[in-house]
Amino acid sequence: MNERKAVPGDDDPGTTTPRADGAGEIKTIAINTGGGDAPGLNAVIRAIVLSARRRGWSVVGIENGYGGLLPDDPGRVIPLGADEVRGITHRGGTILGTTNRSDPFAWPVRLPDGSIEARDRSGEIIESLREHGIDALIAIGGDGSLDLAHRLSKRGLPVVGVPKTIDNDLCGTSLTFGFLTAVATATDAIGKLHSTAESHRRVMVVEVMGRDAGWIALYSGLAGSADVILIPEIPFDIERVCDKIREREAAGREFSIVCVAEGATPAGGEMVMKTVPGGGTDDQERLGGLGDMVAHEIARRTGKETRSLTLGHLQRGGTPTSYDRVISLRFGAAAVRCVARGRFGTMVALDPPHVRAIPLGEALANLKLVPVDGDIVMTAQAIGVSLGD
Ligand code: F6P
Repeated sequence: MNERKAVPGDDDPGTTTPRADGAGEIKTIAINTGGGDAPGLNAVIRAIVLSARRRGWSVVGIENGYGGLLPDDPGRVIPLGADEVRGITHRGGTILGTTNRSDPFAWPVRLPDGSIEARDRSGEIIESLREHGIDALIAIGGDGSLDLAHRLSKRGLPVVGVPKTIDNDLCGTSLTFGFLTAVATATDAIGKLHSTAESHRRVMVVEVMGRDAGWIALYSGLAGSADVILIPEIPFDIERVCDKIREREAAGREFSIVCVAEGATPAGGEMVMKTVPGGGTDDQERLGGLGDMVAHEIARRTGKETRSLTLGHLQRGGTPTSYDRVISLRFGAAAVRCVARGRFGTMVALDPPHVRAIPLGEALANLKLVPVDGDIVMTAQAIGVSLGD
């Protein structure tokens, strides 16, 4: 593992800074946001713009991932100044727009016969960055978008990454921004389900996001006092889930709350997928439906009236929590310090109390899963929460 180095302090904010690779001074940097949105994106953008401008740099935003760099995309490359980022720290979403169909190496192009072909347009994108006079790119994204940024960096593009995903599954950073806001939304929903579950003496199953990692389910399930929490890291046995509900029933607790991560699987089983409309491209496969399946099985096996709710994209929306705003601002300012020092091919990462820069390759080597023998799982077990195992 590479040694982690602290991001240097923000000294000398009023001057342009020579790049460490000797390629000249930084004059203009670009920002893009890729993949699913997450609360805090706008706060990162604001911190980048304000701190870069204090160094005398210009900042531009690329709309729609990398789309704004291509002539056939509706996105543009837009100047970002103090006016453009005023009052956006608390706003959800991203002022630049985002997409998960902006892969420079496999760009979806519709052919005359209506079919879609994936084309490598990375050369065009790098050339367009050069034509726009962009000296460095700060890419804000999750594992998919940062992998694309990493591949562009290997092609010589000076890139710094900022870790975004509500799923909190990026390695090398103790938190990704957006995660704690998603947890707050899910916790609030579980709290509301408690009263209706209790009134009707029902089982309520709530499905939260989390493809490979159960961070949202575990945090919101614990904070919201769920009785069962199912996560992708621990394959579940539906009979164990029903046992917990029967055990509560026997103790006079006639309602139960079951919190499932969308990517959880029964032992030996597979993830539950659904088809969603693709819009301009073909229909797509997405996770979804496990909550319904679990609810039906619980009702069938226990005879309890059961309902399910999928929180879905609600978890990605809304205003970031105060902690997410602060960590987003810190990430943005740290990314600018990395650019100033020529620390390219890195991602800023939270290593409390520090924000550090780690190699992108290190951040992307693995996903950060919930440690099944870690303290948080032990806490759930210690207070009697069933993990379905
Ligand atoms: O951001 C990651 C994630 O939230 C996953 O947990 C979820 O499966 C996915 O995004 C859904 O993304 P979309 O429907 O926007 O493609």
